[in-house]
Amino acid sequence: MKVIVTENFAESCKLVARRIADIVKEKPNAKLGLATGGTCEDIYANLVKLYHNEKLDFSDIHTVNLDEYIGMEPTNPLSYRYYMNHNLFDHVNIDKANTYVAGGMGNVEDTIDEFRAKIYEDGAPDFQLLGIGVSGHIGFNEAGEQLHSLAHVEQLDTTTIEANARYFEDKNKVPTTAMTMGVGEICAANEVWLVASGASKVNAIKGLIMEPYVTPHNPSTVLKLHQDATVVIDKALAELVGYKG
Ligand code: F6R
Repeated sequence: MKVIVTENFAESCKLVARRIADIVKEKPNAKLGLATGGTCEDIYANLVKLYHNEKLDFSDIHTVNLDEYIGMEPTNPLSYRYYMNHNLFDHVNIDKANTYVAGGMGNVEDTIDEFRAKIYEDGAPDFQLLGIGVSGHIGFNEAGEQLHSLAHVEQLDTTTIEANARYFEDKNKVPTTAMTMGVGEICAANEVWLVASGASKVNAIKGLIMEPYVTPHNPSTVLKLHQDATVVIDKALAELVGYKG
């Protein structure tokens, strides 16, 4: 696992957007595994800038997203489908038919079957983008006694519900369940980049880059088993976790 320390969060976002743009150039029909959340907003904003400045072509790019809340209409501004349209897909020449975000409505079992199939359709993703939760979650694979390899329904951790509450006016409406890719599917991507910033992520990042264990109590640690995983943190977070390179 490679660790990159940047000057600040803005630089982290630029760096990761640069890597995605390069993949789009190198492989015009690449499949990208994408994430949502606060961390990724600026990555997508930078990618949209690169799209304009470097005339990137997304017309044959395929995407599959990590997760979606259960019970969330795709038109709801708090859904991850809406987030992806709003932050990326509406601003580049991607064909939305080539983008997949699991549907939050409808029959959950059918959606899980469809989700699992989509992850491997025409091959696993070339690239997977990840944020990390306070609990060390990747996708919505929460810390616990065991990890799911495949896409499944996850009960969200209280730390995740609290973190997500910042987006909801009515705190009683913060979703408590989501559909997520499993850790096996996440690690099936050719190349994985995880981006983290902020003091709330210190324990999760410590477990990932400072400790030698792979443990379900910090799901992100499965990335230690991946052949091409990169963790991007900024100087402030590196100092907080005591990472010296
Ligand atoms: C989002 C996802 C989550 C987030 C994580 C960090 O699709 O899968 O794992 O990446 O919760 O969220 P932020 O960036 O809001 O701190």
